[in-house]
Amino acid sequence: MTLSIDELTAAERAADLDPERLRRLIGLVEHDTAADPFPVTGWDAVVWTVGNATQTSLFLQTVFGMRLTAYSGPETGNRDHRAYVLQAGAVRFVVRGGVDPASALHDHHRTHGDGVSDVALEVPDVDRCIAHARAQGATILDEPHDVSDEHGTVRLAAIATYGRTRHTLVDRSRYTGPYLPGFTARLGTPRTPVFEALDHVVGNVELGRMDSWVDFYGRVMGFRNMAEFVGDDIATNYSALMSKVVASGDHRVKFPLNEPAPGRKRSQIDEFLDFHAGPGVQHLALACDDICHAVDVLAERGVEFLATPDSYYSDPELRARIGEVRVPIEELQSRGILVDRDEDGYLLQIFTAPLGDRPTVFFELIERHGSLGFGKGNFKALFEAIEREQERRGNS
Ligand SMILES: [Fe+2]
Repeated sequence: MTLSIDELTAAERAADLDPERLRRLIGLVEHDTAADPFPVTGWDAVVWTVGNATQTSLFLQTVFGMRLTAYSGPETGNRDHRAYVLQAGAVRFVVRGGVDPASALHDHHRTHGDGVSDVALEVPDVDRCIAHARAQGATILDEPHDVSDEHGTVRLAAIATYGRTRHTLVDRSRYTGPYLPGFTARLGTPRTPVFEALDHVVGNVELGRMDSWVDFYGRVMGFRNMAEFVGDDIATNYSALMSKVVASGDHRVKFPLNEPAPGRKRSQIDEFLDFHAGPGVQHLALACDDICHAVDVLAERGVEFLATPDSYYSDPELRARIGEVRVPIEELQSRGILVDRDEDGYLLQIFTAPLGDRPTVFFELIERHGSLGFGKGNFKALFEAIEREQERRGNS
């Protein structure tokens, strides 16, 4: 089965993305949805709960080039909180912060800090998904229901996933409004986005729970394991994490799941779990056409990226493994961009520092050239490079 324009999500069509470009950006594969027990069209929105949605919205607009498209707040009859809808390419973020001192969002923020509370998915049949999820023992947080306004009707439901994260399921096929009923269109300044699509959303889960969440996504949502797997062979010596990836049939929605592993040092996953007060979304990978340009623009606007030691680029083994990439290696080195290659091609990637005050959620930028991976080769190469630097400083 080949992809047709009809199979793009509403957000992808609105962003003028064609299937071929999307295939390259986020590694789509052909898939027949007919046998899916829980058909998923794609991402609907990533919903954040933050301490100051007004400023987070401005940050995402001015720094990351997202455009404000809709709003809900006291002026529109929502006395509880403000919510700003931001878009760039096919990516939709909704950032929410409490207005009423009694808003439950304040409690959420007090516990978890700024972060992702809902990874909402567009589905063609909410009721069918919920019936399957219920039969598989998933926790149903919101039963299927309609919400309507003058733009039509949206059917919604929600299931629980790791920590306090939820997946709202959205059927917006009978709706033409800017986001959801209760939101009014509010068009911010048009900006040049630095990314085009959401590639993957990573969850950090408790020690020993990775396999049960992999099983959850398989049983409940029909997601399949992707080949990428970081086991204790790499993990315990370097990154002190273990990781598996599950994905929807066409790979549009990809969920790597990490758990801490006992390593030589305290795991970065343990640190996340402590500061987030439990499992949650660790990073969102944003697919871009030109990662060098994106890094230049974002760095100029003050975004901090994880530094990559020069020794990463001078490692002969790494050079041999990388082969030819579209830009000279010096261009990658000057920006700290990482490279990984597999049998299908290569990818370029870089990670930002945490976005908020707590060492929790951050962004990845990713530029794919055929590779369907997530940068597994960089775990070892990067950590070895860091250790070489450590040695040079006499601190190993
Ligand atoms: Fe990633």
